[in-house]
Amino acid sequence: MPTLLLLPGDGIGPEVTAQAERLARRVLPELVIETRPFGGTSYDTIGTPLSEETLALALASDAVLMGAVGGPQWSGVPRASRPEAGLLALRSAMGVYANLRPALCFPALADASTLKREVVEGLDLMIVRELTGGVYFGQPRGVETLPDGQKRGVDTQVYTTLEIERVSRVAFALAEGRRNKVTSCEKSNVMETGQLWREVVTALHRREFPGVTLEHMLADNAAMQLVKNPRQFDVILTDNLFGDILSDEAAQLTGSLGMLPSAALGAPGSPGLYEPIHGSAPDIAGRGVANPLAAILSFAMALQWSLGQPDLAGRVTRAVDAALADGARTRDLGGTLGTAEMTDAVLAHL
Ligand code: IPM
Ligand code: MG
Repeated sequence: MPTLLLLPGDGIGPEVTAQAERLARRVLPELVIETRPFGGTSYDTIGTPLSEETLALALASDAVLMGAVGGPQWSGVPRASRPEAGLLALRSAMGVYANLRPALCFPALADASTLKREVVEGLDLMIVRELTGGVYFGQPRGVETLPDGQKRGVDTQVYTTLEIERVSRVAFALAEGRRNKVTSCEKSNVMETGQLWREVVTALHRREFPGVTLEHMLADNAAMQLVKNPRQFDVILTDNLFGDILSDEAAQLTGSLGMLPSAALGAPGSPGLYEPIHGSAPDIAGRGVANPLAAILSFAMALQWSLGQPDLAGRVTRAVDAALADGARTRDLGGTLGTAEMTDAVLAHL
């Protein structure tokens, strides 16, 4: 029996994952679903954002669906116990090094973007973000006090050949099934890791994927090109930090952060981690107005990449498309539907 671990987390996380669960029980009744506390909610009850039991269960599941973590109430908690630390520890322990963040402009939403319709209409790009390395995990890190009383903060950006190669392979393979183009983004003009990134991607491309078009772009220019002409991109391959930034930017192109799912994948056969890109949105949490589509589409990605159900994944995605085409909208999209009603609209099209 396929198994899914739900980690609703904080803020709007529980509201949106509850809707994804409703849909999951409808489309795949045999799926065994377990739920565990995670993030700040877990810290408040058991003193850690990620318990060993939850981690063991995650590693033993076929897929993990996370809602959101974090919120202002945990800003004073020591870094190692913060909700975000639980998420980073989970990503690292699951070894999910390739983070797929699609930015798709649903036809019905082309006017919801802050960019002109003619710039975003038909947008379909995929960011492949390296997720378990780089400055998020590099050592040394910390803040020390200098003899003169000043403080000095350090983060370390570090990448090895293997780390760059394995995520690049995922990007090239994805491009082959799409429009066959990879844009690799780094800062090779100023960073050692950027220089290495460019060399390793170039060599891997030549060896294993010569048929895919490869383009290198400095990450700052990529940020600009994303708002200037986003449809020039097919697959964007980039490191952990640049991927964090560029994926928020790409999300906004599509009209709403509330729409975008993500998949984090590791070694073949290991469980994937699925997360909506939106955060915990504490300002609207608990009111039943959050957009459930990113969570629902994240579950669709789990069907596709971890649960061996690509056809079902397609059905869910088409049902979302049809609900939007019908005019179903949560508030972030200019509508009035609540979280459950929006899900009703999707279910009606399944
Ligand atoms: C994301 C988020 C996380 C990140 C935070 C919550 C740790 O911004 O998934 O993009 O920085 O990776
Ligand atoms: Mg982010």
